Amino acid sequence: MLSRRAFLNATGVAGAALAIKTNGLSEVLAASASVAGQSPADVAKDEFYWREIQQSFALDRTVINLNTGHHASQPTIVLDAVKRFLDMESMVPVRYGGQILANMDTVRRELAKEFGCDTEEMAITRNASESLQILQNGIDLVAGDEVVTTEQDYPRMLTTWDQRMRRDKIVIKRVQFPVPTTADDLYTRIEQAITPKTKVLHFCHITNLSGQLFPVQRLSRMARTRGIRTIVDGAHAGAQFPFKLRELECDSYGVSLHKWLLAPNGTGLLFVKRDMIEKFWPLQAAPATSTADIRKFEEIGTAPAAIKAGIADALAFHQAIGAERKAARLYFLTMRWANALRSQPRIRMHSSLKPGETWGVAAVGIDGMEPAKMTSFLWDKYRIVVAGLSGGKPPAQTYDWQGIRVTPNVYTTIGEIDTFIEAMQQLVKL
Ligand SMILES: Cc1ncc(COP(=O)(O)O)c(C=O)c1O
Repeated sequence: MLSRRAFLNATGVAGAALAIKTNGLSEVLAASASVAGQSPADVAKDEFYWREIQQSFALDRTVINLNTGHHASQPTIVLDAVKRFLDMESMVPVRYGGQILANMDTVRRELAKEFGCDTEEMAITRNASESLQILQNGIDLVAGDEVVTTEQDYPRMLTTWDQRMRRDKIVIKRVQFPVPTTADDLYTRIEQAITPKTKVLHFCHITNLSGQLFPVQRLSRMARTRGIRTIVDGAHAGAQFPFKLRELECDSYGVSLHKWLLAPNGTGLLFVKRDMIEKFWPLQAAPATSTADIRKFEEIGTAPAAIKAGIADALAFHQAIGAERKAARLYFLTMRWANALRSQPRIRMHSSLKPGETWGVAAVGIDGMEPAKMTSFLWDKYRIVVAGLSGGKPPAQTYDWQGIRVTPNVYTTIGEIDTFIEAMQQLVKL
């Protein structure tokens, strides 16, 4: 006999209108305890373990979402926390909303611990766009100063630099690079673009298109010796794979927490090294006494406290799985489809696929096929969602390769990956 959950899944009703029982933190902690002695790579293959994680979400499984990198679904415990905080805030907004925000130093402290920096270097923002634009628009630059970035940095960030170019007559240099490429190649290309006029180096930890990993520490060290400030776009890196901010040695870093941390939509973090805080103006004016206070970057006027408070539960969920286990599972899911497809005729992989260089973001193309044809076939015939990638015209990202980006997540099932493989095998024949 079908269980209630299986019945709802089979009829496609699950998650749509009916409340279903999902796993909470204690089930995830118990599952993790049961695999405590095993390596992350072994747990990555353990479907019994990942079923417990999958059941922490109320998803629409009538659709196969392989564009979770845009912004992710949240575990039910995170959604519930936000709803509770919304109710609470609404009871006496002026008191309870303020109180929730006053408690945000707890979240600041826990985020700082997780990402490896000082609590006083961590600001909570609404997304990576806000974090990075605070840095891009907040740094003093004069006409003729140069900013070195790359052609495959995020369009909004490139647009922000282009606007500063028009406003302040600064010079923006976009470094081109092929995908996939190596850390050495990226380092050399960027170093060659630097001149005595370079004041800022802005690049991704991993790019949004192909998941290309950058040698952040090496680039940051090189920049520091030349008096150049580093702005690192970690929108996709934060909580997708483990790293510590202080080991990256960059001056500043922005993350979207609604991507891989599975935090409420509209949350991000901004890291600024302590001695750099006063070098950046905040988005909204702060008193002179706050010049060296990381909290100056959080001044945005009245805004929902509940969304930010939900970060605490997302962090608890992330830690209950474990950053290493999560990274290993994402790599396992990516390699399952990549290995099945990579040797097929016309298939072109745009991502490294080496361990330690790829996790849950990878791009693939089919020779001679427009991304639009790929995305519509996958959607129309299989209800699979992916992101289409085709190099656009300036001022957007411009690049000379095309295909789709595939971003599974901790809630993606093996069956969903296998359906994607089957769909791609059909698509290459067209
Ligand atoms: C590399 C990169 N930077 C910045 C952003 C902006 O993120 P958000 O829209 O969450 O602000 C994104 C979003 O996908 C991204 O991929």
